[in-house]
Amino acid sequence: MQSVQASQYILCSDVFKIYKVADLEVVALRGLDLEVDRGEIIAIVGASGSGKSTLLNVLAGYDAPSAGTVRVGQYDLLNMTGTEIVEYRRREVGFIWQQTSRNLFSYLTAIENVELPMILAGIPSAERGPRAAGLLKLVGLDHRLKHRPETLSGGEQQRVAIAVALANRPPLLLADEPTGELDDVTGAEVLDLLNRINQELGTTIVVVTHDPAIAASVERAVAIRDGKTSTEIRRVVSYERRIGGKADRTREFQIVDPSGRVQVPRHVIEAAGLGERVIVEASGGTVILRPSEE
Ligand SMILES: Nc1ncnc2c1ncn2[C@@H]1O[C@H](COP(=O)(O)OP(=O)(O)O)[C@@H](O)[C@H]1O
Ligand SMILES: [Mg+2]
Repeated sequence: MQSVQASQYILCSDVFKIYKVADLEVVALRGLDLEVDRGEIIAIVGASGSGKSTLLNVLAGYDAPSAGTVRVGQYDLLNMTGTEIVEYRRREVGFIWQQTSRNLFSYLTAIENVELPMILAGIPSAERGPRAAGLLKLVGLDHRLKHRPETLSGGEQQRVAIAVALANRPPLLLADEPTGELDDVTGAEVLDLLNRINQELGTTIVVVTHDPAIAASVERAVAIRDGKTSTEIRRVVSYERRIGGKADRTREFQIVDPSGRVQVPRHVIEAAGLGERVIVEASGGTVILRPSEE
């Protein structure tokens, strides 16, 4: 078991999730590694079917991993009783689904939707109203408290959903393609809001998306491919930006997993004519991959 550093909040190590469907086994996560610090906001980017929702459901405590290590704060997600899982979900995580309709009860107003998780957590009624109103103000909807979801736009519904997810002040916010049903401008606003919540409340946020553009709007994005994290993209604040000029650059890093595996991007393999076997050579700080002559 790896030791947990002070700043480390999420640790996924060699995580497998296998779904059994009739006689078939679907390996949704295959040896996934991921570390997230407390107070960080990261994006998980990947094609459809790469395992993003599975990872988020595992982190949310909705789905039990099949093998590996998953720790969130003090919780060990592979060794929890049913009661502990319920407590974990209630105290530790807020969750936002892609489908706006899945996040909110249609017959409740915005403020009632935000108060509902507080009722389930036993927060006294005198405290609920003001706290819910404060959260709706935080997401910019203090003028929509009494509106039902059907009278709100898609973007506004996702803002209410964020307030609902934050109702019990969870340290962790998980969002599964929260902008998937929104147009680009509204989606960007929702992402700005998540960034602001991360800054103002210090909430650790993991946001899943299949949109590579989102990778550029957070400090760190991790790409997931075939159930395994492959690439990491970090925003590098450039000199021009620091002096108030041009936009940020991003840098893409390949992840070296604890066993020393690195995923070489397909276009690099093709451009270099690498086959199934390569020769790896280190030469003065540079690593060279050459096609094998055989
Ligand atoms: N409940 C399930 N039962 C069986 N297979 C599943 C289930 N959920 C996901 N899968 C499979 O696991 C793989 C990863 O799915 P998912 O995590 O939903 O990917 P993504 O969110 O990146 O699109 C896919 O092959 C999908 O079909
Ligand atoms: Mg998904």
